[in-house]
Amino acid sequence: MRKHIVAGNWKMNTTVAEGVELAKAVVEHSAQVPADVKLIIAPPFTHLYPVAEVVKGTAVGLSSQNCADKEKGAYTGEVAVNMLAGVGCEYVILGHSERREYYGETDAKLVEKVKLALAQGLSPIFCIGEKKEEREAGRHFEVVTEQVKNVLFELTPEQMANIIVAYEPVWAIGTGLTATAEQAQEIHAEIRKVLAEKFGELAEEISILYGGSCKPSNAKELFACPDIDGGLIGGAALKAEDFIGIAVSFLLISCYFKVCSFL
Ligand code: PGA
Repeated sequence: MRKHIVAGNWKMNTTVAEGVELAKAVVEHSAQVPADVKLIIAPPFTHLYPVAEVVKGTAVGLSSQNCADKEKGAYTGEVAVNMLAGVGCEYVILGHSERREYYGETDAKLVEKVKLALAQGLSPIFCIGEKKEEREAGRHFEVVTEQVKNVLFELTPEQMANIIVAYEPVWAIGTGLTATAEQAQEIHAEIRKVLAEKFGELAEEISILYGGSCKPSNAKELFACPDIDGGLIGGAALKAEDFIGIAVSFLLISCYFKVCSFL
């Protein structure tokens, strides 16, 4: 049984005080979320320490949005993975399209980051996804396959078992455009197929999240797809009700399937 996960990527939003309030609201409302859905929040670096205090002892997991590609040393402005582990992070978002696009993150750098994160016991939430022009040119399968192979194929099965994959079509991020459930399902299934080429049956155990303008109104349709195991949420994660509303979709889906099985 794959883990259902709903992760909130706050990006470069909120002050520390606002972030602490948001984290408290997420914890407070998290009781509505089915127990088999893992909630994760990824605040900016500055917020991690106080937010860790808020989520400590709760079911809400803590993630950072990035980490350095070096272990330690003279790398001004960078944050090492052991620092993140030290404040209680269990996850780290890596390879987000904004990092790839605006900060020149290459697959080679991502291999380093993913391995460092795993070595410190953090689970990477590894993002892949095609740009608008790549989809329009019909290259979306090819692009994500390459991203998977360039980074995840460098891992051992033991390392891969701790990876969460997030498929985020770049054209859907923060644009209000969402992949249809059909578009998302077909590419999630393809990602799983590619993972199976290298990792065999383990591919069935890997959670693959959808990201890109996911909100309470479209989450049910997306999460009901067989290969979509949850979401990486940007804008809608900045409001606790919306974030929780997205996670609660899993409850509605399981009720729907229960009702269907009676008919
Ligand atoms: P969005 O962002 O939900 O605002 O589209 C998703 C992401 O970038 O992770």
